Amino acid sequence: MGRAVRYSRPVRQRIDTLIILGAGGDLTGRLLLPGVASFLASTEAQALTIIGVDRAEVSAAEWSKKITTAFEAYPSTLGRSVAKESRYVRADATSADDLRALLESATGRIALYFALPPAVTMLVCKALSTLQLPAGIALVLEKPFGTDLRSAQSLNRLLETMVPETQVFRVDHFLGKSTVLNMIGLRFANRIFEPLFSSENVEKVEIIVDERLGLENRAGYYDSAGALEDMIQSHLLLVLALTAMEPPASMDADDLRGAMAQVLRATRPWHKNGTSSRRARYGAGRIDGKRLPAYEDEKGVDPHRQTETLAEVTLAIDNWRWAGVPFIVRSGKALADNRQDIIVTFKDVPHLPTGLTGLPGPSRLRVSLKPATLDLDLVINGEGDPFTLDSSILHADLGEPELSAYGEVLAQVLEGDPIISVRGDVAEQCWRIVTPVLAAWRKDAVPLETYPAGTSGPAGW
Ligand code: BG6
Repeated sequence: MGRAVRYSRPVRQRIDTLIILGAGGDLTGRLLLPGVASFLASTEAQALTIIGVDRAEVSAAEWSKKITTAFEAYPSTLGRSVAKESRYVRADATSADDLRALLESATGRIALYFALPPAVTMLVCKALSTLQLPAGIALVLEKPFGTDLRSAQSLNRLLETMVPETQVFRVDHFLGKSTVLNMIGLRFANRIFEPLFSSENVEKVEIIVDERLGLENRAGYYDSAGALEDMIQSHLLLVLALTAMEPPASMDADDLRGAMAQVLRATRPWHKNGTSSRRARYGAGRIDGKRLPAYEDEKGVDPHRQTETLAEVTLAIDNWRWAGVPFIVRSGKALADNRQDIIVTFKDVPHLPTGLTGLPGPSRLRVSLKPATLDLDLVINGEGDPFTLDSSILHADLGEPELSAYGEVLAQVLEGDPIISVRGDVAEQCWRIVTPVLAAWRKDAVPLETYPAGTSGPAGW
């Protein structure tokens, strides 16, 4: 299959060897390897050696099976040829000696993928910083990048001593979602939306990611993160940046990431002390006819942590374009519906011609990330009585992308273009924005509410 459907960008420096640290983890099998498969199936240059690394003993046959399983959706010859070139190495990634041996055994240009929790990533980076790194090595770091502002800053300072920023890929798979990237085309390739995107015309902007899935056995990670850090601090603030940023001059990594950084620097909680936020956690309930236990009764959860499974923050953007417009970002688990929406609500017209009645509500633009659709709610003269207003929806399907979100992220890593990776200062801004909210929650200045699993959240939300 050719690359015609993907946006065509020049290949800078192709990666020859992908070393995955944390190869035994859930992420590698569930998202990373299928992402590699999705990318390799879409390109003619399919030569890639994958080296899986973890502490456990894994046989060559088991590793090969893991690779071919990830390639199941594609021609079996592709999976088999990648598996043939791949190997598994048992090693301790926090040991400088093990890392040196790994890097020496790899050929060509290397990408080192940290499919590891942030605390372990920090240790590996420290060990790595004592080594002479191969020229052109790409360091690929999974989210969350650090565990708070300070740890993200110190990880950035350490990385700066190791490789140039263009060789650091901070992964956020929401930036690999075609609909998220579609915000750029929608806003900047049409005259009809962009002039309206400002405080003069917009009442509010909502970015909402609701999931029906509950904890899914991820207490080890999620219970110390919660909805605010898991979703808002990373994914949703990046979506906000693309929705609110100024037009970049080009689709060059510097221009795009510069525009994102600029708008995030102007973003803060609506109430500077972080209390313009709400948090809640699910109680027992039913989803799809199945009973879900209360979050605090899920295996591995420490109820005293007060981890939220639903978080909402109202933000302000202190710049000319957006001053006074609330940006409401919300995400939660174990809710009634799955939705991933960016909703722009427009202000009422300055004067409705006297004699027209029955205004049904404001005009609204809704871009849904999953499924990829666009709806424009318009106010029109109704059928029947033409002096009574009604609403009508213009609907468009945005089409399914060729690559999965992880495939898109991996494509950029393997082709050496950091455009959709999170720049270091952007990662720090995202932490800076949520820091007052975390502090307010720690002080209990915002109550932790509850909602039954399978509902649309606490009463009154
Ligand atoms: C992950 C979060 O980054 O994104 C998960 O850790 C969440 O909690 C997931 O479920 C949502 O991603 P997607 O691709 O399903 O929209």
